[in-house]
Amino acid sequence: MMGGRQRASHLCVDLILFMKFEATYAPAATEFRDGISFLRSDGMLALTTDLRSKYIGMCNDGERMSSSFLAKNLIPHTGCEPTAAYGAVIETKDGPILDMASQTVNTVLGQNDIWVLANINAFNLSGYPSFLSSRFTNAYSKLLAEKISSIGGIVNARVNHRLCSGAAAIESLLTNAWNYSCTKYGDDASGRMVGSFKGGFHGQTGNAGKISWIQKGLKLPFQDAGSEQGKVMFFETPTTASFDHHEVLSDGEVEIMEQIRQHREELFLVIIEPLLMNYGVVTPSLSFIQALRETCTECDIPLAFDEVQTAFGWLGTMSAAEKLRVAPDMLAVSKGLTGGYGPLSASICSTKFSQESGTGESTNGSDLRAMVAAKAVLERLAGIQWEDIPACLPTSLAEELHEGLLHWVPKKAKSLRMRLRDLTGKYENIAGALRGDGLICGLPLLDKLGKPSPALAAAVYRDLISRGVFARASHDALIIKPPLVITESEIDFAIEQLGNSLRKFSNHPLC
Ligand SMILES: Cc1ncc(COP(=O)(O)O)c(C=O)c1O
Repeated sequence: MMGGRQRASHLCVDLILFMKFEATYAPAATEFRDGISFLRSDGMLALTTDLRSKYIGMCNDGERMSSSFLAKNLIPHTGCEPTAAYGAVIETKDGPILDMASQTVNTVLGQNDIWVLANINAFNLSGYPSFLSSRFTNAYSKLLAEKISSIGGIVNARVNHRLCSGAAAIESLLTNAWNYSCTKYGDDASGRMVGSFKGGFHGQTGNAGKISWIQKGLKLPFQDAGSEQGKVMFFETPTTASFDHHEVLSDGEVEIMEQIRQHREELFLVIIEPLLMNYGVVTPSLSFIQALRETCTECDIPLAFDEVQTAFGWLGTMSAAEKLRVAPDMLAVSKGLTGGYGPLSASICSTKFSQESGTGESTNGSDLRAMVAAKAVLERLAGIQWEDIPACLPTSLAEELHEGLLHWVPKKAKSLRMRLRDLTGKYENIAGALRGDGLICGLPLLDKLGKPSPALAAAVYRDLISRGVFARASHDALIIKPPLVITESEIDFAIEQLGNSLRKFSNHPLC
């Protein structure tokens, strides 16, 4: 099922594309030194091709090499050694693995997307500076800021993309909100708090770690006893519902709005993942998100959406905010932004709350190749104008590039969700009601008493790897979140294997 990819022909088109793109990216330099003229020559293409064979050869080395130099949390546990990948399929020494989790949610376009690769290759050969400090004016930096400023519906938004991780984007939101509250209440920190949610996850660095309820046990420096309670107010997890429906708020949700009103002077930020991905894909109701928006506006508290997981396509839109039609004041994005082709994250804040402090420079911030990749990812999602598609491409590929991948999400999501619901009907003793939205699916697993079972979710995750499917376990649920390039036949394969796994465990329930 997964062998039919034409990798060789893609690499060939790839080379043609980057030659074409040279004209787009090449600045008008007048004097070339030897290296620069070689950079733009056919010799460079020959050198690249030559080196490529060495990289392809390197895939044989991983197995022989020792893991003993890796930090203990970096030791791999899937047991598969990848050798190549295209789209949603990763070839490994033990056979192909179908990626139904977009890896760690970075690969929104799957692996080795032709448009992104061609753009990065073209940029690399353009002779543009390979690194730029933010002290220089920079077309890519401005263009990307403009392109992503509107994805959450924030009017007059300012973008900080000198960041490289989701946690760094969250830290940036916290700083902005903190600085705003200082303009209102002065610099005295006593009593000021962040409102976060039970079940939320926002990263592993200092402040991002402290506001993440699901990693309460994480050991962080400067976290003296009691301070966590004082500085973070953890609201109850919203009730699991659906983005599509208006629901009456539960008593607990009404209570959350009351708590925000009561603590309006102390709360300097309320932050939520629109879908609580890392807590079993808890999906709040539209009414809850709307109520949160209204309450924060009423209390002049900035509302932040952590869209590190939800932005850039899986919901069929560029963001959950767009899908819900609820604009936050602040947004954190990363992962899908470059599709896994470089480290980049961004905070997007309304002008009122854009209160950055400190220098704008950062070691790897606004990495140029990552920004070129991000531009290409956004184009690939939304579709590319005909005039920007090189004429050398085969018609079917050109049409796919023009159409854009977002276009296909509703159809693919409908098919995937319908088939997952069929499975939950068939194995209702261990599978609960499907959560999530679009291509983000959470399948809760239950023990024999019908209670949520993180142990069973982890067991199904492991079992699926042995069946050639990579999903993820999150709290009590299996996360299914394929890249947007997933095909119908790949969905068929994943569902068949998941069915086999559920059958196995439904006959021998864990716990
Ligand atoms: C919702 C959410 N926020 C923030 C982060 C932190 O991102 P990073 O690991 O890039 O720091 C993650 C990481 O998985 C996440 O899922």
